Amino acid sequence: MADMEVLRDAAVLIDGARIAWVGPRADAPRADQVTEVVGVIFPGMIDCHTHGVFGAARLDDHQRRALGEDYKAIAAAGGGILQSVRDVRARPEAELEALTRARLATLLAHGTTTIEVKSGYGLELEAELKQLRVIRRLAATQPATLVPTFLGAHEVPPEHRSDRAAYVRLLCEEMIPAVARGQLARCCDVFCEPGVFSPAEARGILTTAKGYGLALKLHADELEGSGGAELAAELGALSADHLAAVSEAGVRALASSGTVAVLLPATMIFLGKKTQAPARRLLDAGAAVALATDFNPGTSPTVSLPLVMALGVSQLGLRHAEALTAVTVNAAAALGLAGERGQLAPGFAADLVVAAVEDWREAAYWMGTNVVSAVWTGGSACPTPTVPVS
Ligand code: NIG
Ligand code: FE
Repeated sequence: MADMEVLRDAAVLIDGARIAWVGPRADAPRADQVTEVVGVIFPGMIDCHTHGVFGAARLDDHQRRALGEDYKAIAAAGGGILQSVRDVRARPEAELEALTRARLATLLAHGTTTIEVKSGYGLELEAELKQLRVIRRLAATQPATLVPTFLGAHEVPPEHRSDRAAYVRLLCEEMIPAVARGQLARCCDVFCEPGVFSPAEARGILTTAKGYGLALKLHADELEGSGGAELAAELGALSADHLAAVSEAGVRALASSGTVAVLLPATMIFLGKKTQAPARRLLDAGAAVALATDFNPGTSPTVSLPLVMALGVSQLGLRHAEALTAVTVNAAAALGLAGERGQLAPGFAADLVVAAVEDWREAAYWMGTNVVSAVWTGGSACPTPTVPVS
């Protein structure tokens, strides 16, 4: 992951939506058509884990945690995810779309050109489909590439609390089939965590999803370990995400599988936790590590992969090059897109980001300042908006 090539005085030739050539500027074909860029050109960054479709911010949770209440205690008392569920269920689709459009534009302005977006604040068929339709319309009408993930198993909704097996049946027999029929998601995810979904429930849901042709992802071992990493590896999931409480067996399982370990350091910081996922142990064991924002109103209201890279260096012990690989090459792999995105190389999507820095490592350094000065997706320059994220 630390093996990276840095070219000076370089040129990138774009042909349509793809990169055709990269090399020393002196050798550039079509030198007559050069657009000058000052700064460093990076591959467009890839945010492989967001909960980007939501209504309002969750400021009460934030303050309650500050005063000592725990994330899970707040959730058990009806706050947390369920607060966003009430909001999304009640909110008109057009309003949800407008809010999400503005937020995605802010991610793009921070250098993210491919964004995985999960549902999971509906927890009933129609509200989940509403979120996924919003993602589909935005995929067609804004410049970033979106990868939709069905996360109906984000929490057990209040109306099924007395019979959780009935909700798992609903997921497997109605919701997953409807999502697959409508081609509304590429992946299926489950929040596998003590008190949310057990490994046995997650196994049933993901096995069903796989049968419908969906790729698999898993919120695994986020706060307490429950064998989520092992399950993700066993099922051939694209990724196991969070992993702050992963076991040694889980580390070994990921290292010997093709499942990417997606780490979300901003989440642990925002939750006020003092621990982080064992990034170095994962890397040393041979696992592929990616980084993502986890952008969501409860545990990680950040749109900035550069911020997450800086946390990757300072909190997870990554080298700058490892942090950059984690938001490009490996994040693409976590979405099944390693062959087409995340590299400045011929044949790859012409998704490019320019940062107004001298040393490329500064992209993982200026914590909280947006150093991105220009963005291209599919070979076209994007407007660089300064829209507020809220
Ligand atoms: O990744 N862990 C579950 N889901 C989110 C939190 C979502 C929320 O609190 O709204 C996460 O941290
Ligand atoms: Fe998440």
